[in-house]
Amino acid sequence: MRSFPRAGEGPLVLVLHGPNLGALGRRDPGHYGSLDLDQLMGRLAKLAGELGLAVEGVQSDAEADLVSALLEAAGRGVAAAVCNPGALAHTSYALRDAVEAAGIPVVEVHLSNVHARERWRHHLAVAPVAAGVIAGLGPASYELGLRAAAGLLARHP
Ligand code: DQA
Repeated sequence: MRSFPRAGEGPLVLVLHGPNLGALGRRDPGHYGSLDLDQLMGRLAKLAGELGLAVEGVQSDAEADLVSALLEAAGRGVAAAVCNPGALAHTSYALRDAVEAAGIPVVEVHLSNVHARERWRHHLAVAPVAAGVIAGLGPASYELGLRAAAGLLARHP
C-alpha cells in the first residue's frame, strides 16, 4: 500500500488507486499512458488547488485496503472520493458494497476505455453505486473525476 499525503486546502477528496496502478508509467503504456502515479497525483494536487479542494491518495493491490479506506473515509472528514478500482471494477462486490456504505459521493474513473477492450472488462460491478463513471481519457479521466467531485460537493456542501 502506498499513501500520498494531503495537498491543498478545502474539502478533502480521497483518490483511490486499485491493483496494479502502482506500476503506472511502466505498465502497458498503450492503454495506460506514460505518466507514473507520482506525476498523476501531482497533477491532481495542482487541480485541487485551483478547485479549492484538498486531495490525498492511496494505492493498494489489496481489496481489503480499499474497502477499509472507503469505510473509514467519512469518519475522518473525507468529503468525496475518486476511485480507479483497476480490475476490481469488474469483479468486486465487496468494493461495490464499500462504495455504497461509504456515505460520500464516489466517482469511478478508468484511464482506458474499458468498453472498447476485452469483453470481461465491459461488466462493471462497482459502477451502479458510483456517483458517475469516467473512462477512456487517460489522466484526464482522473482530472474530470476531481472536477465532478467538486461539482457534487458544491451542490451538497
Ligand atoms: C483500468 C481498467 C481495468 O480494466 C484494468 O484492470 C486496470 C486499469 C483503467 O484505468 O483503465 O487495472 O481500471
